[in-house]
Amino acid sequence: MALINQLVSRAALRPLNVRAISKSPLRPDRILWTDFRMPSTAAQTRRLPQFTEQRRTVVFKKEQGQPKHFNAKSNATASPSLLAESEEYEKNWVSETRYTQPHPIWNDEEVHAVQKTHFRPRGVSDRAALYLLRSIRGVFDVCTGYAFGPLSAQGWINRVVLLETIAGVPGLVGAAFRHLRSLRRMERDYGWIHTLLEEAENERMHLMSALMIKNPGRVFRTFVIAGQLFFLPLYTGMYLVSPRLAHRFVGYLEEEAVKTYTHLLEELEAGHQPELASMKAPLLARQYWSLKNDASFTDMIFAIRADESHHRDVNHTFANMKPNEENPFEPGH
Ligand SMILES: [Fe+2]
Ligand SMILES: [Fe+2]
Repeated sequence: MALINQLVSRAALRPLNVRAISKSPLRPDRILWTDFRMPSTAAQTRRLPQFTEQRRTVVFKKEQGQPKHFNAKSNATASPSLLAESEEYEKNWVSETRYTQPHPIWNDEEVHAVQKTHFRPRGVSDRAALYLLRSIRGVFDVCTGYAFGPLSAQGWINRVVLLETIAGVPGLVGAAFRHLRSLRRMERDYGWIHTLLEEAENERMHLMSALMIKNPGRVFRTFVIAGQLFFLPLYTGMYLVSPRLAHRFVGYLEEEAVKTYTHLLEELEAGHQPELASMKAPLLARQYWSLKNDASFTDMIFAIRADESHHRDVNHTFANMKPNEENPFEPGH
């Protein structure tokens, strides 16, 4: 009986979680939900105020917090400048970063220490990965105008956005293959999946950061869709044939990404991109990489380049390993 009494009184003291659902005043087609933590009846009898703690208001704040173009389907484009980052915007912003997985937070020394490196191909499979990557890069350079001389500020942002829509694919495909392999063979994964998912998300956050600066138009969006239609089956096929080939390919892709971002940093530091150099890093980027509040666009590119060098090293390492060897990378590292 004493036990029953104890259980009843505990249940009575437990606060109730209440969800209020209503229509968003800003977007009538969207539902606004708000979670409240309501004190239990027992707590109320002790004169605690009702609805003491508002836990979160998910959709409403996100709608307010995003720049207007963020989900836009229009072909409105903007010159490189931060879109919609007013004080009000910062106050209401509920960042995508609250949902993100662990990832490296680089210090000043680390971001400046990044070097361009090259893994010398060993054997036919490595050479195939390298030549395939070089031919794709050739086409990519033509499509983004990189092959025809110095890029404008807008050109740089276009290139970054396009690059990141492709770079986010391999980690997800690799993780899916590893996950399915583990289910199919009924054996453990050896810790690879989390690193691959972290990589995919990290690339997506590069894209999200660049989207705070650029609002792609319809033609650009068509290119992105075409790029995914081409690259997803290609990389899936590659992973199906040989995970080693696929990881080596990504290792080489990331070597090129480090070169591209190093070139952009050189342009910024030489004063050739004054418009970009004078920009502040978007709030999303400042939160994601724990940058200072006054961090610049250049600081953001330093962090992105450090990420790319990390992906390069991870993928070359995976390509050198057998599929049933332990992943040496800890979560977030
Ligand atoms: Fe990236
Ligand atoms: Fe990368």
